[in-house]
Parts: sequence; C-alpha cells; structure tokens
Amino acid sequence: MAAVTADQTTQSTSGTAEAAGQAVGTAPDAADAARLAVFDAAVAADDRIEPRDWMPEAYRATLVRQMAQHAHSEIIGMQPEANWITRAPSLRRKAILMAKVQDEAGHGLYLYSAAETLGTSREELLDKLHAGRQRYSSIFNYPTLTWADVGAIGWLVDGAAITNQVPLCRCSYGPYARAMVRICKEESFHQRQGYELLLALSRGTEAQHAMAQDAVDRWWWPSLMMFGPPDDASSHSEQSMAWKIKRHSNDELRQRFVDIAVPQAEALGLTLPDPDIRWNEERGQHDFGAIDWTEFQEVLKGNGPCNEQRITQRRRAHEEGAWVRDAAAAYAAKHTTPSTRTAQPAQHVEETA
Ligand code: 3HC
Repeated sequence: MAAVTADQTTQSTSGTAEAAGQAVGTAPDAADAARLAVFDAAVAADDRIEPRDWMPEAYRATLVRQMAQHAHSEIIGMQPEANWITRAPSLRRKAILMAKVQDEAGHGLYLYSAAETLGTSREELLDKLHAGRQRYSSIFNYPTLTWADVGAIGWLVDGAAITNQVPLCRCSYGPYARAMVRICKEESFHQRQGYELLLALSRGTEAQHAMAQDAVDRWWWPSLMMFGPPDDASSHSEQSMAWKIKRHSNDELRQRFVDIAVPQAEALGLTLPDPDIRWNEERGQHDFGAIDWTEFQEVLKGNGPCNEQRITQRRRAHEEGAWVRDAAAAYAAKHTTPSTRTAQPAQHVEETA
C-alpha cells in the first residue's frame, strides 16, 4: 500500500470510527479521516497493508491477537507429537516426525517475526502466553495416547489447519499473508504424512486398524472445534472479515473441512464418529451432528485434559532455554558492534571459522 504511512502522519489523536480503535464520540479530524480513507480503499482494492502503512489501532490489535494465538499454537503443538519421537516404530517414521516437529518450531518463528512488524516483541508475546493472557489452539490440550494419534493429528488437525490457513495467504496484512504461504506448503506435507500413516495402520493388523479408528474417534470432534465458535457466537469474525484478515467465517471453513474429510475417511477405511453425517443433496454439502460447545468452552477456560501440562512444560522449556537466548544475544552483540567489525578482524575470523 502506498500513500499515507505511519511515519508521515502522527498516530491518531481523535477518532473517526469505533473500528479505528479511537475514542468513540470524539470528532474526527481531517487527517484521521484521510488516513482511514486510504486504509479502507487499500483493503477494498485487495492491496496489502504493510508495516509502515498507517492502520487503525483496532486492526493492529486484532492482528497481534490472532497472530500471537497462531504462533503460540505452533510451538505448543510441538508437545503432543514430540511425545512420540522416541517411540516411533521405525527410523523412517522417526525422521519424518522429527522434521515435522521442527517445522512447527519454524512456523512459530515466522509468525512471531511477522507479529514483530506490528511493534510487539517475541518476549512480550511469550510472557503473555506464559501468564495465561493469550490463547493457543484448543486442540493441543488433548493427549496423544497411541502412535495412531500422530497420524490422526496429521490428517485431521493439520488438515483443519490447512483449511483455515490457506485463505490467510490472502490476508490483508502483508507479513502475515507471506508467512502463511510457506507454512501452508509445509502443513500440506504434514497432512499427507498423517494420512499415509493412518492408511498403513488401517490396512494393517486388526489391532492396528482398531488403534487408527480409536484415534480418529478421539480427534474428530476437537478438530471441528479448532475453527472456533459458531458464527453467531464469534465475537471477532465480522470485523476481521470486513478488514480481510479472515476471508471466511468459522462455520464456512468447518463445513469445507467436513466435506473434504468425509470421502478421505472412506478411502482410509475408517469411520467418522458422527452418525448424523450424510450428504445433503439440496445444500450440496454434508450435514453433520451437533458440536459439544460446552467442552470447547471448558478447554478455553483451562479445564481441558492437558492445559496444565502444556503450559507448565512451555514455561519450563522457556526457563531452561534462557542460556541459549543469552548466548545468542551475546554473540549477536559482539558481532554487530563497530569495534569488533573493524578493529579486530583477526579475532573475528578466528571465532567464526
Ligand atoms: N482455540 C482457542 N481459542 C479459540 C479457538 C480455538 N480453536 N477458536 C476461537 N478461539 C477464541 C478466540 O481467540 C476468541 O477469544 P479472544 O477474544 O480471547 O481472543 C474467541 O474464541 C472467539 O472466537 P472468534 O471466532 O471471535 O475468534 P477469531 O475471529 O480470532 O477466530 C480462529 C478464531 C478461527 C482460530 C482465528 O483466530 C484464526 O483463523 N487464527 C489463525 C489460525 C490459528 O490460530 N490456527 C491455530 C491452529 S493450530 C496450528 O496452526 C498449528 C498447526 O501445526 C496444526
């Protein structure tokens, strides 16, 4: 987006709209109105909003909220799968799972970096996660009880994530949209490895087939909850869609996911644990049963099976990793000061060799 940047204008002092995050009831001044008009026109034209462009404070806050929640989900999501790295049934499966868990760390990194372009540091966001002031996806508060859960997470959880995230590649905020392109490519590999793993189990012994079915039974409903509350209970969807942060509502994406998953389950030879799933000729979509939104709310309140375990482990990993961050910061500081760059070339060469 060109024209008005945050540097060229002062940040707003008077409001033009509630959505602009400014004081309601305050008379808009001409500069605010002009900046908002440029922003609105860019969104309407499907231009990207870039970090130095002026943006309404509420748009910035919504992005930070969603991107932080997304980044936190990526790194907390490493835990349930990492649980199986040491017990993967073959070297091939172990290598795949290690690569996948590393990918999730990378996704967190892209997203924290993208959020930094909005003026929030990674430290600040992690502090909020650790203090319980920011969320991560409900799905990662469920346990991985068997090896088949690794397959169910890949097929269903990563499948749901892709359905939700492909439209985010067209998010109006440039850094988020660009981060999502690579993330979606990697998630696609994750989804396929899960599907292939479940297929092998489903076609294996009776016990392996039963293990795959049990995993699907436990992960199906929580996967549907990943898309968020139903549209009539979604507090942010309408505004986020108007700003083109979200391109589709929670229910639209959930429906899309069900329609994709039903034939895949058939191909896998597994059953989805919902007797109400059937093709609706009139709608051209599958009907499906009622989601237990009480369970969803309980998980969001911290009462899921693994909430406590996940956040405790995350805090511990952060504390135990302090020395790595300190060492990296010291190394970076040493190599960016003018004295080390110019006055001591021999030492520099020795240290980096
Ligand atoms: N888990 C936890 N909280 C959830 C949630 C979920 N599955 N779905 C919604 N919520 C929360 C919202 O954050 C909001 O709470 P807040 O006001 O305190 O922030 C509240 O429930 C109301 O929901 P809304 O529908 O109004 O919220 P959004 O408009 O933000 O929509 C969303 C929710 C669809 C999850 C959206 O934020 C989104 O698309 N986020 C980006 C994708 C993302 O976060 N994915 C995480 C999935 S896991 C993952 O990516 C890792 C991969 O490896 C599998």
